[in-house]
Amino acid sequence: MPIKSLIRTVPHYPKQGVMFRDITTLLKDPVGLRVTVNELVHRYTPVKIDRVAGIEARGFIIGAALAYQLGVGFVPIRKQGKLPAETVGHDYDLEYGTDRIEMHVDSVAAGEQVLLVDDLIATGGTAEAACNLIESMGGGIVECCFVIDLPDLGGRRRLENRGQKVFALCEFE
Ligand code: PRP
Ligand code: ADE
Repeated sequence: MPIKSLIRTVPHYPKQGVMFRDITTLLKDPVGLRVTVNELVHRYTPVKIDRVAGIEARGFIIGAALAYQLGVGFVPIRKQGKLPAETVGHDYDLEYGTDRIEMHVDSVAAGEQVLLVDDLIATGGTAEAACNLIESMGGGIVECCFVIDLPDLGGRRRLENRGQKVFALCEFE
């Protein structure tokens, strides 16, 4: 069952001209959720990974399920002001605005191998900011992993140009 067929497109959300790729329809489908997580478990089981880092908010859902199945810890990368202890942060541009993400300074130790997970890559600004944060703590990035790639927005190329490996389960034009 192709997971792409379970992803809903909502035109003009959150603003005119954006085709919003909505994974809630994939997540609520028991087979869709299982196939999505299992495909990633299959890909990353042979790889040495110390932590999975998921980007708020939708990256938490897939990232935490994947970390659980891989038997490694999960690290949240959150929007500004949400984490209680000492943080490092990075500003970035979105397809529709700007934002800042943060991580706890003790969430990744130097030399740890981190798998970065989010639901979707568009411009790649969010994922690039996350890579910068992880690397600022001395972590290595095994791969940047997404359910959806929007290749027309150039995010994959942007990450590959900075030396990252990138994987996505499906693409929308
Ligand atoms: C979405 C998506 C990614 C990001 C991708 O999150 O989940 O994190 O945008 O865009 P980019 O590649 O252009 O940076 P959003 O900021 O909408 O937050 P949410 O998950 O909290 O809804
Ligand atoms: N984040 C950035 N662009 C998006 C899109 N087109 N659909 C869903 N999430 C997004």
